[in-house]
Amino acid sequence: MNKFFVNDCPPNVSIFNWISNSSHFREAVNDISRQHNFDDLIDIPHTLNISDLISTTNQVLNDFGTKGWQTSKGESKSYGGLSLVYNPDLVDSVDPNQNTLGTKKNNPSQFYYSSTENFPTIRNTYFDSYGFRKLSPCVTDSKLCNFISEFNLSLTRSRIAVLDGFYHDKTGEDFLWHRDETVFENVRINIPLETDDSFMFQIENKNSVHLEIGKIYTWNTNISHRVYPTKKIDTKRVHIVLGFSPWFDYIEEEDAFTVNEFFGKMHPIEIIIRGLAHPQIGYS
Ligand SMILES: [Fe+2]
Repeated sequence: MNKFFVNDCPPNVSIFNWISNSSHFREAVNDISRQHNFDDLIDIPHTLNISDLISTTNQVLNDFGTKGWQTSKGESKSYGGLSLVYNPDLVDSVDPNQNTLGTKKNNPSQFYYSSTENFPTIRNTYFDSYGFRKLSPCVTDSKLCNFISEFNLSLTRSRIAVLDGFYHDKTGEDFLWHRDETVFENVRINIPLETDDSFMFQIENKNSVHLEIGKIYTWNTNISHRVYPTKKIDTKRVHIVLGFSPWFDYIEEEDAFTVNEFFGKMHPIEIIIRGLAHPQIGYS
């Protein structure tokens, strides 16, 4: 089967699990994984105008407001942003612009992508990545729409991520370790837009580094990693974090996913660094 209508997805599985189990996905992943070892941060060459993206994002944050990361204890003051995608069928009733910013059902320590124990089924929850298939108003009703439409891959769980250094808490540094989906489900591009040298990024078993304005990064987000302020500072760290479905394209008019030309042929990180996801991002 090459086309998957969201309506046909059984209620007890995530859309991604359903489509990956209904295709030769796992065999294809094993084949491609064997040929690559992406375990470190990648600084991707690009010709994108970052200043323009900074102005656009500032405008969007101004117009739509910064939303807090949601937990059962309320909304975080230190972490939040805007969700660039939403799931029209999400079980939590949340503003589309806040859709991928945590879940009210988990406590603050259940930050990991795998913390699904509070959910009888993950379909249409925070953990159903491919449920987040529609562009949020903060994209469709802003200039971000132009930028997003330049990508050749379908957007999934993505956000403008805002970390406020004012709420720095030393005990929070370890808590921020987390893993996201495999890159075969969601491959990410991370673009710093506002930061301070004291904000650090670390991949497990690697040195901490500062992610710089002007650069565009990707890495294997399924390896444990964290972002943390090293001191209390009245500055925000604003990054745009774009997640893409590397091997399945979303067809809006049909509310369906279809296998794309990269399925089983190219590692998701290679799609990005070869410039096949965006004409101005990657080796030309
Ligand atoms: Fe992450």
